[in-house]
Amino acid sequence: MQTNKTVAKRADLLCFSLSACQLPKIIIIGVRKGGTRALIEMLSLHSAVAAAENEVHFFDWESHFQKGLPWYLSQMPYAFPDQLTVEKTPAYFTSSKVPKRIHQMNPDIKLLLILRDPTERVLSDYTQVFYNRLQKHKRYQPIESVLVKDGEINLGYKALNRSLYYMHMQNWLRYFPMESIHVVDGDELIRDPFPEMKKVERFLQLEPQIKASNFYFNKTKGFYCLRDHGRERCLHDSKGRAHPHVAPAILQKLYQFFHEPNKRFFELVGRTFNWN
Ligand code: A3P
Repeated sequence: MQTNKTVAKRADLLCFSLSACQLPKIIIIGVRKGGTRALIEMLSLHSAVAAAENEVHFFDWESHFQKGLPWYLSQMPYAFPDQLTVEKTPAYFTSSKVPKRIHQMNPDIKLLLILRDPTERVLSDYTQVFYNRLQKHKRYQPIESVLVKDGEINLGYKALNRSLYYMHMQNWLRYFPMESIHVVDGDELIRDPFPEMKKVERFLQLEPQIKASNFYFNKTKGFYCLRDHGRERCLHDSKGRAHPHVAPAILQKLYQFFHEPNKRFFELVGRTFNWN
């Protein structure tokens, strides 16, 4: 049977008639390496969701933002009137100008933020840059030399800043109430995606549709993969890569470094996470 959803999927790139597109009602704002691809793919299991294929970078890239909302709309997928459009751009979370811009577009928008243990996120961030440089035949620094400078945590390392969640969250809370932001536990989404996705469904007030049978654990990949209308698929190989080994003493320093910022984040959002 051909459902609305499968038609919309095939029409993904056919949003040439702007009347068939909608501005997003949901944005996945980050965080980079938090599990944003997994989240949007899992959310796409729901028939009432139409997801943009690519990261749009409308609110954070000046060259895109200057093109205005009609351009943003043209980047959205085909959507039926009863579907909600969602886009994900992980860099939004850490870009200070973005909350105000999104608020100006739609103060009632629903925001999804997926976070994982900040230390793990730093290692994942490093791994991504490492592979990008490797592909371009560029030199890369060993992880320990970017993490530590003169025996101390290297505060100049950008990836550390991205894991200071409370700092970025403060910017968002200047424009949006906590009721508009749902924080997805990225570590839990890896461990057991179904309960996390039910919470997302509830937050978005979607009819319950996502089922436990939509997920199965793939031993080779070491992660959950998706089952949608009988078709099985895992995320791309670039998702779920092994992280480099880091000396335990340096890891310990990192955990300590994030201890206070994490506490401040928990206070801000009124919820704790099982981070190191
Ligand atoms: P690693 O590759 O470092 O393990 P993003 O999509 O925001 O770039 O996040 C990538 C991260 O998503 C991966 O980081 C991985 O840990 C996580 N992830 C969560 N669920 C996943 C899944 N089912 N399959 C693969 N990766 C998943």
